[in-house]
Amino acid sequence: MEIPFAESYKIKMVEPVRKSTREQREQWLKEAHYNVFQLKAEQVYIDLLTDSGTGAMSDRQWAAMMLGDESYAGATSFYKMKDTITQITGFEYVLPTHQGRAAENVLFSVLLKEGDRVPGNSHFDTTKGHIESRRAFAIDCTVDIAKDTQLEAPFKGNVDIAKLEKELAENHAIIPFVIVTVTNNTAGGQPVSMRNLREVAALSKKFNKKVVFDSARFAENAYFIKMREEGYKDKSIKEICREMFQYADAMTMSAKKDAIVNMGGFIATNRQDWYDAAKVKGIVYEGYLTYGGMNGRDMNALAVGLEENTEFETLETRIKQVEYLAQKLDEYGIPYQRPAGGHAIFVDAPKTLTHVPKEEFPAQMLTIELYLEAGIRGCEIGYLLADRDPITRENRFDGLDLLRLAIPRRVYTNNHIDVVAAALKNVFDRRESVTHGVKIVWEAELMRHFTVELEPIG
Ligand code: F0G
Repeated sequence: MEIPFAESYKIKMVEPVRKSTREQREQWLKEAHYNVFQLKAEQVYIDLLTDSGTGAMSDRQWAAMMLGDESYAGATSFYKMKDTITQITGFEYVLPTHQGRAAENVLFSVLLKEGDRVPGNSHFDTTKGHIESRRAFAIDCTVDIAKDTQLEAPFKGNVDIAKLEKELAENHAIIPFVIVTVTNNTAGGQPVSMRNLREVAALSKKFNKKVVFDSARFAENAYFIKMREEGYKDKSIKEICREMFQYADAMTMSAKKDAIVNMGGFIATNRQDWYDAAKVKGIVYEGYLTYGGMNGRDMNALAVGLEENTEFETLETRIKQVEYLAQKLDEYGIPYQRPAGGHAIFVDAPKTLTHVPKEEFPAQMLTIELYLEAGIRGCEIGYLLADRDPITRENRFDGLDLLRLAIPRRVYTNNHIDVVAAALKNVFDRRESVTHGVKIVWEAELMRHFTVELEPIG
């Protein structure tokens, strides 16, 4: 008999999860204005809102926390973190920040000005927020195949080189840099190939433009390169990461994902001019250069987390769990962004709730239905998250409308995944009866999905 696959860890500490009744959930959701961000965590049974800061640290990470150096300046913890980052990425200058968006804020404060254009592959919402709040424009140059959720392709996160070239040729004077998000979260946790990274770097160089990687899930991206791209199957994840970062001038990092810490982030680069400019902003917004919004103990945990999560077995365990959920959905015929992404499954809401018009936010409605069904909290990555066009103020309905089921690292077992799949099947089976969605009662001007207040229609 073939020995089955099992996790690359065993469990040493546990936390109870809470069930609830449908009546309770109906009441709670109403109180939360039909926005799952406004639910209390204790009202959630299985929380797939995000994989960000929700992972379980290892015993080695907890041990490293005890050795944290909390010195204001020059802490050993900073140097441990910096040395690990340098080893993995090749970047010598490291500026800590309290999380990924803070890294964006600090770096973009020095690189961006009003009217600029920043091409990239499906900028994440905070990235887009930090661009648009500076009255600059995020130009999406993702490959078109990313929009076809049913198409199987290995690298649906890629930048469309022709689109990028056109944008660079037409607007090079107002493009300060190109940004590549690895993996491409918004397009479904889809990876970017090494070949694509290489081509983006070459094209940007031709136009004398720098490249920044939004690196939140770079290790998962490296895993996919190893598994799917010719020439990489015998390379280690760390070798692949080193090569990936050769094609970037700088990185912003949300360490809450692939460094498996609950809070933290950084900027890293080999450009001294960028570092020198950014460090001034870093001190103003985040804190002194050797802690930037992080505790010494957190920097220690980050160093260990990065080291662990750039090992093949750790990534394999994680991504196989995401694939496990995908296999269940295949069994039930539920449409999702194919193939399974690195950190999440993204259910195609308009293909599921076919009777809910786009103006009534199908993915949000699916999020609501799944919560009501079994207390599972997913997250809308769709028309609400897309915000309004900054100029016309119209809703942006041109992208995908997805329910994201993000799987925290090392937190749930496949039994929990079975519950998620069964609950989603129940919603799917009664999809014909869901004919209405929600309407917006109140919304913020930017990044509205976090705080939006909604009401069910009908
Ligand atoms: N870039 C990407 C690709 C992200 O996915 C995120 C966060 C950020 C930047 C910002 O990092 O949260 O540390 O400030 N994504 C989380 C998510 C929130 O749920 O996908 P942060």
